[in-house]
Amino acid sequence: MKNVNIGIIGCGTVGVNVAKILEKHSVIIKNRVGCGINIKWVCDKDLSKLKQLNLPKEKITSDINKVILDPSVDILVELIGGNDISKKIIIEAMDRGKHIVTANKAVLSKYWDEIFSLALRKKLLVYFEAAVGAGIPVIQSLNEGLAANKIQSIVGILNGTTNFILSKMTDNNMGFSEALKLAQKSGFAEANPLLDLNGSDAAQKLSILASIAFGNHLPSEKIHREGISDISPIDIKYAKNEFGYVLKLLASVKNENGKISATVCPTLIDVEHPLAAVENEYNAIYIDGDSCGDIMLYGKGAGGPAAASAVASDIIYLATNIFYGTAGKFPFILYDKKIKLNIRPVEDIVSKYYLRFSTADKPGVLSKISGILGKNNVSISACFQEERHKKQAVPVLILTHQTKEGNVRKAIKIIDDLPVVKSKTVMFRIME
Ligand code: HSE
Repeated sequence: MKNVNIGIIGCGTVGVNVAKILEKHSVIIKNRVGCGINIKWVCDKDLSKLKQLNLPKEKITSDINKVILDPSVDILVELIGGNDISKKIIIEAMDRGKHIVTANKAVLSKYWDEIFSLALRKKLLVYFEAAVGAGIPVIQSLNEGLAANKIQSIVGILNGTTNFILSKMTDNNMGFSEALKLAQKSGFAEANPLLDLNGSDAAQKLSILASIAFGNHLPSEKIHREGISDISPIDIKYAKNEFGYVLKLLASVKNENGKISATVCPTLIDVEHPLAAVENEYNAIYIDGDSCGDIMLYGKGAGGPAAASAVASDIIYLATNIFYGTAGKFPFILYDKKIKLNIRPVEDIVSKYYLRFSTADKPGVLSKISGILGKNNVSISACFQEERHKKQAVPVLILTHQTKEGNVRKAIKIIDDLPVVKSKTVMFRIME
């Protein structure tokens, strides 16, 4: 059998590492697949990056059409990221009968329907293991390894950059900007780091996981999102020292009696919870299935070599399907547009909360605050106030029992208007 030909479009750190893996393990890969995998093209607008690959000149191009229009290319590997151009490349390549490997969470989370219905019609495979959790094989696990389960919840640390920043702020007393710079230097952050910081990157990844788990597309816009840019080191310190919680940007979907809550937000977790031990650029996905119970997948969720591991594995698996003539005979992703995903408004989500009020240190302040919380059905489970600092506002920390988020929001709105309250109240959800 002839080799399987691939064309890689986008050759940044991930693409370069994919080419290196395919070269380094070519003998093992040939034995596993049944035939060789031939890199027919690598394409990038910046050809200088490709020098390190030692590929013959005729395989290198900056023209994407050379790859898309080449009938001998069996698998198109899309690694340029971003939205519209990547989507166009994927659709045009599929129109020409090519299977796809992509790491593009933005395109998949937005165009799930279009891409997978086209794949079904054209009998093509679209693999995307690297789109979520880089080197962690979560897509295969969820799609195949856990296929026998009704997935009840997925809670993940899905963004390496924000986890790196929060880890450095928690463990090394680093400031936010310094930690961000270090994450960018290490190659974890997106080209536009705002997508990491405001939770969009994690929401796109959660959208993909939820769409697999619940059998229909859950667009990332339907996921309630909060970022980490405004987090103050004092809340990290108080939460840990006074209450034993660690702050993480958690991406979470839960299916409770057909109602789905989907959020990405800074959340406190007990220091003993396995997710609390996930540090730096590492990601973890904690899945609760009705038969398997709790499972946690853990690994490097960002960085070129980790993502390249997933992309190269997709290429190998897909090439094996091509070799055995099974590629596209049955769909990789099954979804049903008729399944209704009923998204719970964020106000209806029930949780425990951490609240930090900045108040004047005067008689009656605490009773006023607790009175307003009580009137709004928010019950207090713990309270802490540091000794007064003359003339400064004092932080009053309150933990609540479970209540609806709408109740907490209503109470905070009233409390923040009190003359004794000196700045906006800080609120974090606490994971059960
Ligand atoms: N910017 C992403 C992260 C890279 O920090 O997790 C992997 O998607």
